[in-house]
Amino acid sequence: MSELKEILVIGGTGAQGTPVVYALANSKRYRVRLLTCDPASARAQKLGALPNVTLIQGTQDNQKDLERAFKGVYGAWVNTDGFTIGEKAETFYGIRAYETARCEGVQHYVWAGTDYAVKVAGWKKEYHWGHNDAKGRVTNYILAQGQDGMKSSVITTGPYMDMLGDGMLQPIEQPDGSFLWANPAKDGKIPLIAVEEVGHYSLWLFDNLPESAGLDLLVATDIVSFADIVRTFTEVTGKKAAHKYLTFDEYFPLAEPYPNAPSNWAADPTTPRDESFMTFRENFTPWWRFWGEGKAAKRDLALLDRIHPNRIKSLEEWMRKAGYDGSARPVLKGLEDLKAKFGPGKS
Ligand SMILES: NC(=O)c1ccc[n+]([C@@H]2O[C@H](COP(=O)([O-])OP(=O)(O)OC[C@H]3O[C@@H](n4cnc5c(N)ncnc54)[C@H](OP(=O)(O)O)[C@@H]3O)[C@@H](O)[C@H]2O)c1
Repeated sequence: MSELKEILVIGGTGAQGTPVVYALANSKRYRVRLLTCDPASARAQKLGALPNVTLIQGTQDNQKDLERAFKGVYGAWVNTDGFTIGEKAETFYGIRAYETARCEGVQHYVWAGTDYAVKVAGWKKEYHWGHNDAKGRVTNYILAQGQDGMKSSVITTGPYMDMLGDGMLQPIEQPDGSFLWANPAKDGKIPLIAVEEVGHYSLWLFDNLPESAGLDLLVATDIVSFADIVRTFTEVTGKKAAHKYLTFDEYFPLAEPYPNAPSNWAADPTTPRDESFMTFRENFTPWWRFWGEGKAAKRDLALLDRIHPNRIKSLEEWMRKAGYDGSARPVLKGLEDLKAKFGPGKS
């Protein structure tokens, strides 16, 4: 056990962090220190029961907790939850987490980033929203520090393919048994990532210094439009499906959790929200614009094939493997916690 390198995982109980914890713990090369607000939660308990995983209580938006969490570890995998803590806090704690890691002598830092949408789209404000741009800024900040001393790598993800069963990308079953995706996406191609694959890519980043030092690995499983999603769904399930384009004015009254909901409506309602916070509508308007117009940063699929030769290579392969049938399959811890608190109607 003592020969294993210890990795601090922040966000390890979440959709994206869970496969990373499994990949590291199962590798027999690393042990995991998992920071969680609630070590008693079902997800934390399940992960804490794995060999080579230790839970520590603390929050990602508390500097004392971060100092304690980074102390003595070899590496770190950090996915702050900007969706919950907000853009301003994610920018601050994203940078503070990196600085704390350097202060504590961490050797390899992996940051879980997302497309820096406003930059990729030419700095146009119509493409700025909170929970991607905070991560994008932090990615740029981290890579700008160079590789002397602590090594750093980034794994950049787009929307999870798994969201086809949870939240924004989920279709609605119609009375005739067909499935309808009704949303403001145009015909752009979206780089969806099967979230389980984040585990393999993250493990590769830790295993492959010096190649991974300074690398921003932009991952995707398949790059698809809603027309592709509909066609593939029908091929795989035999069920009829359609995509209906809605204007923002048509879409948001149907999609908002409640009128004028904040972007992080699932968080504690007493969370202080200053003017940096967007409403749900302000946040997801550029979200749909960016992904739905196919503005995402380019993915190097040949590199992904080399890193992960057995990766899931298509939406069709993922749908078959996951047994996807259009029904709800919870993936996000944040939404799961919300439903446990208030019942299924609230999200
Ligand atoms: N949904 C997507 O398609 C997608 C795609 C790419 C990137 N992302 C980004 O991923 C992030 C969310 O991660 P996720 O997708 O894994 O969501 P998730 O399943 O809802 O998990 C949220 C994670 O954040 C942790 N967390 C929340 N508040 C915390 C706090 N104050 N201190 C410590 N940990 C806290 C939770 O841990 P505990 O509750 O155990 O503390 C949990 O591990 C967001 O920034 C989002 O923008 C999402």
